[in-house]
Amino acid sequence: MTNFVEIKPRALKPALLELDGISRTTIEAHYRLYQGYVGKRNEILGRLSDVDLAAANQVYSDVRALKVDLTFAIGGIKNHELYFEHLGGEGGDPVGAVGALIERDFGSAQAWRDDLKASGMAGRGWAWTAYDWDEGRLFNYIGDAQNTFPVWNATPLVALDVYEHAYFLDYQTDRAAYIEAFFRNLDWSVVNGWIDTYRVPVD
Ligand SMILES: [Fe+2]
Repeated sequence: MTNFVEIKPRALKPALLELDGISRTTIEAHYRLYQGYVGKRNEILGRLSDVDLAAANQVYSDVRALKVDLTFAIGGIKNHELYFEHLGGEGGDPVGAVGALIERDFGSAQAWRDDLKASGMAGRGWAWTAYDWDEGRLFNYIGDAQNTFPVWNATPLVALDVYEHAYFLDYQTDRAAYIEAFFRNLDWSVVNGWIDTYRVPVD
């Protein structure tokens, strides 16, 4: 028996409907996918609240199916909440705390962009810039799906969605052009707010 509380999708920021190079139609469709992850998270946790624990089995069981797919739903929520929250800005080179971290750990803003873009081209779903609390530094990670491949004890600060639903309407198969648009719309003040909230050390 697991207790849980249903959650609701976060509201879509109006600024997301006026991005540079990522259309309103794409964002609206993308937001509906995010709403779907929230709905499935609630549904799965509801099912888990009275699942038959005694029937747990690694080949197939309700516990297994629900818990595996819960990671996909929760990953989809977290990834998209980061993505939507930190778009709607003016892009450009990172400033403030995140600018200092990127400069320290990648050498320059351009080196960070090149590495994240390559990570996004090499991934099948996501690329993230995250702060690893054990290593004490930023790294760009690849994700193939909502639930692959997070690293323990790392805090994502930039989330680049490279699933085709993020860009196919606007760029067909030209993912590289979409990634350039993503960079143009980043809101660095949001990222610096997270660094502040999570108390990521800057020096
Ligand atoms: Fe997405």
